[in-house]
Amino acid sequence: MTNHLTIVDHPLVQHKLTLMRDKNASTGEFRHLLREISLLLAYEVTRDMELTTRAIETPMQEMEAPVLKGKKLALISILRAGNGLLDGVMELIPSARVGFVGLYRDEETLKPVRYYFKVPEGLDDRLVIVVDPMLATGNSSAAAIDLLKEAGATNIRFMCLLAAPEGVARMKEAHPDVPIITAAVDEKLNDKGYIVPGLGDAGDRMFGTK
Ligand code: URA
Repeated sequence: MTNHLTIVDHPLVQHKLTLMRDKNASTGEFRHLLREISLLLAYEVTRDMELTTRAIETPMQEMEAPVLKGKKLALISILRAGNGLLDGVMELIPSARVGFVGLYRDEETLKPVRYYFKVPEGLDDRLVIVVDPMLATGNSSAAAIDLLKEAGATNIRFMCLLAAPEGVARMKEAHPDVPIITAAVDEKLNDKGYIVPGLGDAGDRMFGTK
C-alpha cells in the first residue's frame, strides 16, 4: 500500500456512514452499521495482502490454489472505541491475532499515557492493522503506533471510520510509513477536539454510555 491516505468512497460505505452520523440513529443501529462498515473497510485495508499457493484437490482435479502468505496478521484495537471496529474485522479474518492498547490523556502534560498494552508476539513478522474509529488530533493514534513500533512492528496500517485533516497531518508527520484507510475526512476539529461534522463521541454512541 503506497498511498498515505485512502478514502473508501464505495457507495455502500458512504451511505452507511451517513446513517451513522445521524444523531437519531439508535445505539443498536449505530453498532450494526459500524460492524457492516468495518467489514467493507477491512476489505480495502487487506486488498494487497500477499498470496502464495497451496496444492488442493477439488472434486474435479488437483490444483495450486491461492492462500494468504506469511504469519497471521495482527489486529490492534485502541481502547475503547477501537473494539467497535474490531468485531467486524475479526469476523472477516477469524485467524488474526488480536491486541489492545489503552491510553489516557494526562491532564497536566496533555500527553497520552499508556494504561494497558497487550499485543501478540512476533509483531515484526506480521501485517499489523490498528483500528480506531475516530482519527481526531492524531496524538493517541501516533502514540499507540510508537508503542507498537517499540514492540517490533514494522508493517502497520491504520483503519478508521472518520478522520480530521489535523489527525491525518499529525500521523503523516509522526508515521509517514503508516497508511491510513478511512471512510471520510471531515472538515476540522472543534475547540473540544471533536471532529465536525463528525458523528459525536463514537465510544458513547456504540456503547450507549453518557
Ligand atoms: N473521538 C470521538 O469519539 N469523536 C470525535 O469527534 C473525536 C474523537
